[in-house]
Amino acid sequence: MRICFTIEDMRTACREERSSGKRLGFVPTMGALHEGHMSLVRAASARCDAVAASIFVNPTQFGPNEDLAKYPRAFENDRELLEKEGVELLFAPSVEEMYPAGAVTWVAVEGLGDKLDGRSRPGHFRGVTTVVAKLLHVVEPDAAFFGQKDAAQVAIIRRMVRELNFSVEIVACPIVREADGLAMSSRNAYLDPVQRKQALVLHRALMRVKECWEAGERNSAGLVGVGRDEIAREKSVRLDYFEIVDSNSLYSVGSVANGALVAVAAFVGGTRLIDNIVLAGTAG
Ligand code: PAF
Repeated sequence: MRICFTIEDMRTACREERSSGKRLGFVPTMGALHEGHMSLVRAASARCDAVAASIFVNPTQFGPNEDLAKYPRAFENDRELLEKEGVELLFAPSVEEMYPAGAVTWVAVEGLGDKLDGRSRPGHFRGVTTVVAKLLHVVEPDAAFFGQKDAAQVAIIRRMVRELNFSVEIVACPIVREADGLAMSSRNAYLDPVQRKQALVLHRALMRVKECWEAGERNSAGLVGVGRDEIAREKSVRLDYFEIVDSNSLYSVGSVANGALVAVAAFVGGTRLIDNIVLAGTAG
């Protein structure tokens, strides 16, 4: 695996891969890799001839009081995992390489960027879209792979790619869960064993909503109530949001149709976790 630390080196390496006619897949990450990330790498390997990944803890998507400083960093372990999985290129730039002093240019998807996590974390999605736009310019992949766990991120990146005419296919891959249902996340590493159990309430609440929807309930307020009540039962977990929205526009829906996104964010101790499901089925 070739590791590139500069934009110039990565751009050259990616162009070399593509000039030999290979379809290049790209998996952007912030490192601290887990099975969720590895599922993206495997999806990229299955659909492309060569895979590039990036590890960059992007400071612009963290708010001033968030966990940028303590975000888990595990470069050596990540490097080994990617190498074992057959990744050809790894981009691991410094902050200074990605954001030269004095940079004032942002990419923002207005409207969508203020919904769900964007409402609770002002400026978060502007940081995400800016860094993803920059990474796509450097790598110029044929396809880029993102986890459905960050469903709002996926919707916003799709919109950016469409409206700014990026020539890349955006592939969203299913959430990978632990055996007990907890969605895999680098932030799970912050949880102590008690909090790890409490965190299961997010998935439980989503499953309760799914059951009610499958039983025929279509009223969004009713379904959201079911989810919120379930979260409230776990006293030490503080709800940030529980919403049912259109998967593309991220606008709240009144009547919940097939394909609606049920999304939750909650604090378990000091750790903010997110999870979601897309309602799908023939019921009703
Ligand atoms: O999903 C993530 O890990 C990050 O938001 C991303 C897409 C790598 C941008 O920093």
